[in-house]
Amino acid sequence: MKLAELTDDHRVVVCLGSGGVGKTTTSAAIALQAAMAGRRTLCLTIDPAKRLANSLGLSALNHEPQRIEPALLTQHGLQCKGELWAMMLDMKHTFDELVARHASSEAQQKRILENRIYQYVSTSLAGTQEYMAMEKLHAVHHDLRWDFIVLDTPPTTNALDFLDAPQKLVGAIDSPVMRWFVDQLEGNRGIGLLGKGAAFVLKGLSRFTGVEFLHQVGGFVTDLNELFGGFRERAQAVYDDLRKDDVAFLIVTSPAPLSVGEAVYFSRKLDQYGIRPRGMVVNRVHPALPEAVGESGALEQGLEASLAQLLESSVDAEALAAKLRRAAEAGRAMAERDREGLRRLREHVAASMSYTEIPAFARDVHDLQALAIVGAHLTGAEPERAGAAQS
Ligand SMILES: Nc1ncnc2c1ncn2[C@@H]1O[C@H](COP(=O)(O)OP(=O)(O)OP(=O)(O)O)[C@@H](O)[C@H]1O
Ligand SMILES: [Mg+2]
Repeated sequence: MKLAELTDDHRVVVCLGSGGVGKTTTSAAIALQAAMAGRRTLCLTIDPAKRLANSLGLSALNHEPQRIEPALLTQHGLQCKGELWAMMLDMKHTFDELVARHASSEAQQKRILENRIYQYVSTSLAGTQEYMAMEKLHAVHHDLRWDFIVLDTPPTTNALDFLDAPQKLVGAIDSPVMRWFVDQLEGNRGIGLLGKGAAFVLKGLSRFTGVEFLHQVGGFVTDLNELFGGFRERAQAVYDDLRKDDVAFLIVTSPAPLSVGEAVYFSRKLDQYGIRPRGMVVNRVHPALPEAVGESGALEQGLEASLAQLLESSVDAEALAAKLRRAAEAGRAMAERDREGLRRLREHVAASMSYTEIPAFARDVHDLQALAIVGAHLTGAEPERAGAAQS
């Protein structure tokens, strides 16, 4: 199946993969293509490179969806029949919104937001980022302004953290340790009566003084206790959303051995979560170079002589030729390594899945033109025409 068919058939595409493989680039490129094809598209993106955000005219300070100016697209020769919107996920802001939605009163909301433990949890707790990405997805999934949504996911050491996130987060907040602290406080036993275990735990948390920490935790957990029901239900709803038929998971990877290993492991594990990936995008593939044999080999033999003819006499043609040969050799080795990676990856691509390769470009993908070229590779359009002005 072609990626274009996959995106046509689904309302939500989630790009998953290990760190740095090109999730943000792929998400943005898919969104651009969908918008050009006529869909009202929202790209939920996480921490895009500053230059990419700038080139799209996005500001990080805005937590609302921002439209990519049609004039900007036209300037780049991109005809957009639909609409392209982007929103940068801000974890803390999303978490604050969630608290606001579930808090029983303004006073409770204020107490939670001002609590230092909350401030720590909402920005630093492992899994928070992942959870908030899914939380936001849940919110926009039900927003009829968009008929196509692409979700970029945060870099995680283990991409599966993304799927575990809701449970982990609720688990951490609702953990026995937290409950124990509340019990101690609610029993009105002073800090002096807390056992050695507590003193030990408190000592480890050196950022807080013991007593202040206890009060902060106590206040936080008591307030959150009232929200637990809300959080749990919400986590479940987010979870259920991901299994809906209109949501397609796309594994993004590179052909490098480490990424291949992670992508293979990941696609197997997804199954265990009851989620079947619908497609795979292999990014940064190095093209195969012709071997230096036969005619082209003969040409290479004469490389120094040809260079000497072309270049000024001050340039050392021999040294330059040696450098070129080394570069070609490195390129060949890289391409060979990639072929092996692609072979391994394909073993894990079911017939029903879409499979797409994107070449490694000499430069980063940080502007609309480059995004359009990536997009053209993704959808199978002619890349050279992607960025060309259309009359
Ligand atoms: N095919 C490509 N050729 C050249 N550069 C690329 C290609 N794809 C992505 N890049 C560049 O690689 C860098 C990482 O890409 P990107 O930010 O999309 O990865 P990511 O998976 O989102 O990373 P993270 O896990 O940190 O969020 C960016 O600077 C991007 O412009
Ligand atoms: Mg990213």
